[in-house]
Amino acid sequence: MKLDLTGQRALVTGGASGIGATVARRFASLGAHVIVTDLNDVDGAAVANEIGGEYHHLDVSNAQAWHDLIDPLDALDIAFLNAGVSTRMPGSQFSDELLSEVTDEAYRRIMGANVDGVVFGSRVVLPKMLQRGRGHIVMTASMAGLGAVQFDPIYALTKHAVVGFAKSLGVAAGPRGVCTSAICPGFADTKIVSTEARQMLGVIGVPIMSPERVADTVITAIEANKPGSVWAVWGDLPITQYEPTPPFHGLIPT
Ligand SMILES: NC(=O)c1ccc[n+]([C@@H]2O[C@H](COP(=O)([O-])OP(=O)(O)OC[C@H]3O[C@@H](n4cnc5c(N)ncnc54)[C@H](O)[C@@H]3O)[C@@H](O)[C@H]2O)c1
Repeated sequence: MKLDLTGQRALVTGGASGIGATVARRFASLGAHVIVTDLNDVDGAAVANEIGGEYHHLDVSNAQAWHDLIDPLDALDIAFLNAGVSTRMPGSQFSDELLSEVTDEAYRRIMGANVDGVVFGSRVVLPKMLQRGRGHIVMTASMAGLGAVQFDPIYALTKHAVVGFAKSLGVAAGPRGVCTSAICPGFADTKIVSTEARQMLGVIGVPIMSPERVADTVITAIEANKPGSVWAVWGDLPITQYEPTPPFHGLIPT
């Protein structure tokens, strides 16, 4: 049966473009009132307008901005913490940059969007969900959160952090009725994948999936409602829950 989000309120970060815009449209098509947020006000407002939602400027790396947006609101039903960037600065060429060539500015930018964004967002969204005893926070990690990314190790660092954060919050909040989960897409056809990266992926035969397939993964995570779960999707392979067995299984919470 199709997921019914009628009467539910869903927040989407990075909702102006790519995966965020696609998921915002999907949530709306399932009946939700969608709060679209982004740095890009023109495209973000256009998405919100198209789906009958509302738009707010939100830099996810700004803790105060999170409070300003969320504190006056009632609890959300769904928060899709999705905004993210790669280490490459806007306008720069794709390259196998050595770590020493990553500027402080580039490092702070990616940590701010990819790590601070989910931490600050969860910090304000989760307490209200816990108070109500329900809600779901889905975070966009990446396959880069499960494996190595030789051309952008800092991106891999941030996405591994998101996976660990979603799993840990899931263990803590799940028994109190709130689910957190992470999605780990492979390459998807959005602006984050540069022209140079596309050429390289084409040469080595790596699939680039549609953002709709990533939206399918978000819906799968919401329907499953398994606290701390991690959902992987790659090309047209089946959406799969990632459940590795760590060493010392049973001794550490998973
Ligand atoms: N496209 C892929 O191949 C792929 C694969 C795995 C994971 N992801 C992840 O998916 C998420 C969405 O990316 P996308 O592929 O749709 O790329 P995208 O560039 O199309 O969209 C990212 C959006 O995030 C917004 N954003 C960036 N920094 C922000 C900030 N500090 N505050 C608020 N908004 C900010 C951008 O303005 C943009 O609208 C990211 O977290 C990305 O790391 C993408």
